[in-house]
Amino acid sequence: DASRTHATTSRGGFSSSLGVLAATLGSAVGLGNIWKFPSLTGANGGAGFLLIYLLSTLFIGLPLMVAEIAIGRQARANPISALRQLQPRGAPWWLIGVAGMAAAFLIMAFYSEVVAWVFAYVAKALSGNLLSSDPVQTQASFDALVRDPVQALLWQWVVLAFIGGILLLGVTRGIEAATKRLMPLLFLLLVLLGGYSLTLPGAGQALSFLFAPEWHKITPAVVLTAMGLAFFKLSIGMGTMMTYGSYFTAEQNIPATATRVMLADLSVSLLAGMAIFPAVFSFGFQPSAGPSLVFITIPAVFAQMPGGSVLLAAFFLLTAIAATGAMLSLMEVPVVILHERWGLSRPRATLLTLLILGLLGAGCALSQSTLATFQPGGRTLFDWADYLSSNLLLPAGGIAIALFVGWAWGERAFAAQLSNHGQLGNQGLARVVSLLLRWVTPVLILLVMLAGLGVFSG
Ligand code: PFF
Repeated sequence: DASRTHATTSRGGFSSSLGVLAATLGSAVGLGNIWKFPSLTGANGGAGFLLIYLLSTLFIGLPLMVAEIAIGRQARANPISALRQLQPRGAPWWLIGVAGMAAAFLIMAFYSEVVAWVFAYVAKALSGNLLSSDPVQTQASFDALVRDPVQALLWQWVVLAFIGGILLLGVTRGIEAATKRLMPLLFLLLVLLGGYSLTLPGAGQALSFLFAPEWHKITPAVVLTAMGLAFFKLSIGMGTMMTYGSYFTAEQNIPATATRVMLADLSVSLLAGMAIFPAVFSFGFQPSAGPSLVFITIPAVFAQMPGGSVLLAAFFLLTAIAATGAMLSLMEVPVVILHERWGLSRPRATLLTLLILGLLGAGCALSQSTLATFQPGGRTLFDWADYLSSNLLLPAGGIAIALFVGWAWGERAFAAQLSNHGQLGNQGLARVVSLLLRWVTPVLILLVMLAGLGVFSG
C-alpha cells in the first residue's frame, strides 16, 4: 500500500533518548495537572481519590501506554496505518485509529479554549492588570474574557496558530526541539513556586485537604472520574502515544520510559497541588473546583503576596508551557493521519487540521457567551466535549487497544518491542503486561465505565 511505503521512508522521528522523554512527558503534562488534578482530588475526597487514581494508573494507564508505544514503534506509522499493518487479515482494528482522531478533535475543541484563557492570562499578568485581592474583581475580569465572543475566539486562534506553527517545523525540529527546551523551564518554575508556597502558614491545611481520605465521597461516578483522569493525564486511549511511539528510537526502553513519564507526571500533579493550595488556604480562600480555582482564586491569592505579579506571571507561564506540549501531541494525531493516509503534505495537513479545529473549537469557545444557553442534555458544548472524551471515548479506546494487544496482535511481537528484540531481557515483564492487557485492563475499564454511568444502580 502506497501510504505505507511513504510512511516508512520519509517520516521524521525523535533523535535522542532525551528528546523522546521530553516529547512524551510533554504530552502527558498539561492542563490536566494544574486545571484538573488538584481540584478533582480536593473535591472528591483527597487520598481516597488519589488511591483510585493511582490504581487506575498502574493497572490501566501504564500497561496501555506501553501497549500504544509498542504498536507505534513496531509499525512506524500513524495509528490508522499502524493498526492496519499489524491487525490479522480483514479485521477492523484500524477503526481504533479513526475513533482516536475523532477523540483528538473533540479534546482539542475544549482544551484549546482553556489554553486560550491561559495565554490571555500570561499577557494580562505581564501587563500587570490582573492582580486584585478581591475575588469579586478577579471573577469579573475572568467573565469579561470568557463572555466576550471576540476575545474567546481570537485567543483560541492565537493558540491554534502557535501550536500549528511549531508543528510546521516537523517532528524533530518542531515537537522535539520545543519540548526539550520547555520542559526543564516548567520544572524549574514549578519547584520554585511549590517551594515558596510550602513555606506559607496554610501548608498544613493544604496537605490535609489534598491527602486526608474522605471515603464517603467515593461513589461509582467518582471512580469513573478518577479513571478518566488517568486516561486524560497519560494521553492514552486515542492513539497519541501510538503516534509518539512511532517516533521512538529503536534503542529506547519502552517500559522504562513509560514508567518514568508516569512518575514525572504524577510529581508535577502533586507539586501543582502543593503550589496552589497552601497559598489558597494561607490567605483565607476556599478551594473551589475547576476553572475558577486557576483563573479566579489564584490571581486573588497572589495579589496578597509580596512579589505577586511576578509569581502570577510565572504561574500562568508554566501552565502555558505545560499546555503547549500536550496540544502539540494532540494536534500531531490528525496531522500525521492526514499526511500519511490522505497523502497531503505536512503543511497542508496542518492547515486542514487548523481549519477543522477553528470550526469545532468555536462551539466550545462560545459556550460561555453566544452559545451559553445552548445546553442540550443540561451541558454546554464545552462541557460535553470534556465529559464525553474522558468518560467515554478514552476508556472505550483503552478497552479496544488492550484487546488488540492482548488477543489480536500476538505476544511475540509485543514482547520483542518491550525487550528491544531480546536485548533488554524484559521477557517476564512482557508476559505480565500481556496478561494484564488480556484479562485485567479491559474488564476493569468496562466495570468502572458501567458503574460510573449508573448501569448497576438501576
Ligand atoms: N495529558 C494532557 C493533560 O493532562 O493535560 C491532556 C492530553 C494530551 C490528553 C494529549 C490526551 C492527549 F492525547
